[in-house]
Amino acid sequence: MKPALKSIRIMGLMSGTSADGLSIALCEAAGGGLQVLKFLNYPYSAGMQGRIISAKDMAAPELSALNFELGRLWAGLVRKFCRTHKVAYKSITAIGSHGQTVWHSPSRSGSEPDAKGHTLQIGEASFIAEETGRPVVCDFRPADMAAGGEGAPLIPFMDEYLFGGGLPVALQNIGGVGNIAFTGRGVKTFGFDTGPGNSLMDTAVSLLSGGRLTYDKGGRLAYGGEPDRAKVDKFLALPFFRSRPPKSLDRSEFSERFIEKYFGRVTERGSRNILATLNLFTAASIVLAFKKFSPRGTRELIVSGGGALNPALMDNISVLLLPCGVRVRSSAELGMHPLAKEPACFALLAWLALNGEINHCPSATGARAGRVLGKILRPRSFL
Ligand SMILES: Nc1ncnc2c1ncn2[C@@H]1O[C@H](COP(=O)(O)OP(=O)(O)O)[C@@H](O)[C@H]1O
Ligand SMILES: [Mg+2]
Repeated sequence: MKPALKSIRIMGLMSGTSADGLSIALCEAAGGGLQVLKFLNYPYSAGMQGRIISAKDMAAPELSALNFELGRLWAGLVRKFCRTHKVAYKSITAIGSHGQTVWHSPSRSGSEPDAKGHTLQIGEASFIAEETGRPVVCDFRPADMAAGGEGAPLIPFMDEYLFGGGLPVALQNIGGVGNIAFTGRGVKTFGFDTGPGNSLMDTAVSLLSGGRLTYDKGGRLAYGGEPDRAKVDKFLALPFFRSRPPKSLDRSEFSERFIEKYFGRVTERGSRNILATLNLFTAASIVLAFKKFSPRGTRELIVSGGGALNPALMDNISVLLLPCGVRVRSSAELGMHPLAKEPACFALLAWLALNGEINHCPSATGARAGRVLGKILRPRSFL
């Protein structure tokens, strides 16, 4: 990839599996670097969050309607974002929209051994192109899968782009599930799911509050309880943690059923200890992945995603990695808001796609060779 001679502005949109909202990042790309200039997260209404989570069970007419509704909603949020930050559409070179994943079945983790992978991201991007008059790139995962890849993870490409030339480093994203990537000079970039992210703790909070709360804000519940270390050890002995990468996890693996199986009925009285245990378990699964698979010489873990905003989780990870001499930092310390990393990545992938450049990391996804991912919408004003 040739570094841009002059700086350009690119925009990325991400709506993750937590279905908590749309994150928009406006970035500046120059000289092979990428900086987030502006970032905002627009939370969804409870109704919209519920519909997104149940999208996987919808019939075609309902799913088709949701596809267009999200496209219109996001186009409106792009308008709002640009008004708030006084950004002229014509100053934006490219917009990348990941879309909302409704379904993702990579071939390797299919329930049948010969299952063929497939994936579906929705949120009609034509509305964003129509609103802005700028080129929009969407639907990145299918081209990777057509080339034999898992369609995921895509973020390690940006990790390599930003950190590939430096000392070996680990990059952990804690979204609905957790995933890690390793990169740096002399490291063949790779990544995989580490285990639960926020969604296990979120589910417990929702259960114990009867749906009143959706997450453990500031890690307050976890801080107030005592973790059950024997339970954490038992969880870490589950088959997922013993298997080798590449491996990926479905959000449903660590969900309500898991909590009921190991904790029984969740009540408000026991909530602090449960959250302390789940928080420690989430941290320990990340540390286990780091210890087992980090390339030699990796001395730093940079954390992004909503989990980086949970200080109890960050403390647990830091304490567990302390004896290994590994420094744990939030991506915020490097100037990138933890929720801005994913939208920033899709801004970068979009810009590269427009330039016809490879924009994924085949060593991370398993694709046969480098491809240009994404479907390009070129509005009339751009032609
Ligand atoms: N202040 C906070 N304290 C604790 N947890 C937080 C905080 N802010 C966000 N989170 C967690 O981050 C989650 C959202 O993370 P995100 O990276 O957006 O996931 P996804 O990519 O799956 O949408 C929330 O559901 C919540 O669990
Ligand atoms: Mg999110």
